[in-house]
Amino acid sequence: MISRIVAPLTVGANRAYLRWRARPSHSTGEVEQAPPARPAHGTEGIEVVVIRLDVGAEAVRRSIAVLSKTERHRAARIAFDRERRRFVVARARLRELLATRLATRPDSIELTYGPHGKPAVAPGSADSDLRFNVSHSNDVAVYAFASGREVGIDVEAVRAIRDADDIAARFFSHRENEAYLALDPRDKTIGFFNCWTRKEAFIKALGEGLYHPLDCFDVSLEPDESARILRVKNTPGDECGWRMESISPAPGFVGAVVTEYGTRRCATLASPLAAAPPRDDA
Ligand SMILES: CC(C)(COP(=O)(O)OP(=O)(O)OC[C@H]1O[C@@H](n2cnc3c(N)ncnc32)[C@H](O)[C@@H]1OP(=O)(O)O)[C@@H](O)C(=O)NCCC(=O)NCCS
Repeated sequence: MISRIVAPLTVGANRAYLRWRARPSHSTGEVEQAPPARPAHGTEGIEVVVIRLDVGAEAVRRSIAVLSKTERHRAARIAFDRERRRFVVARARLRELLATRLATRPDSIELTYGPHGKPAVAPGSADSDLRFNVSHSNDVAVYAFASGREVGIDVEAVRAIRDADDIAARFFSHRENEAYLALDPRDKTIGFFNCWTRKEAFIKALGEGLYHPLDCFDVSLEPDESARILRVKNTPGDECGWRMESISPAPGFVGAVVTEYGTRRCATLASPLAAAPPRDDA
């Protein structure tokens, strides 16, 4: 079970949330919510935090002050104001959330990047084995934190996609595509985004992004079924050493969290810290 959730978040079946639309908010405040009713074995100790990124100009200015030089340069290269603001606020909030957990200052945290871009706390920059992952969609950002275990998280705004069937045929595994095509037409949009965010959360946990073949593992996607990894290569999902849980971080958004559990027997992890990673000078 995810141990602590800080957000207007629900975990599990997500059909009800699709009747809502995301509402803009000008607060970065987090709302404590009771833990999920449905425990998911293996996701104990995972913390999920959800924030909104549509904050006022003053909050954006305060956020910029927390960023490293490299992050400010990255922000400066983002052409569109809205996208720049989202990056700045999400990254500043990440630093603040890490700082709270590492008992240090947000601007003193050094980040490092894996071979495929997964950020991590640089070894030596803090005396901790804290792992994290981040995802954003529109003005919602989600963060997952875990101690000593890799974690991946993904969120998407649920929306009609014109080419959804073509995308599913191209990116989903054979089994997932079959399950997607068998859905009631009213369930196809949510089924599509369930599958998308679950696959994405898994490859983000691995740190491999799209370098990981998307057809070598299957996830559940039906709206009324729990989020599960069904298979990784030849290994059944419940033996693969990774656990998945769905999240509904805000009305109109779905997502998933994946974390290491027990002894991993499949899906070799390319160490996110391997190969002399670049560092973000704080
Ligand atoms: C980059 C990628 C890891 C995620 O991209 P995304 O879904 O567009 O974006 P998200 O908001 O979910 O995640 C972005 C964050 O993931 C983190 N990230 C970057 N590379 C990562 C990696 N290799 N592994 C894990 N996390 C990574 C970063 O924190 C990044 O945010 P930041 O740079 O602002 O700090 C990669 O999987 C990708 O390009 N996906 C494209 C979508 C796709 O085709 N998915 C197929 C699913 S069927």
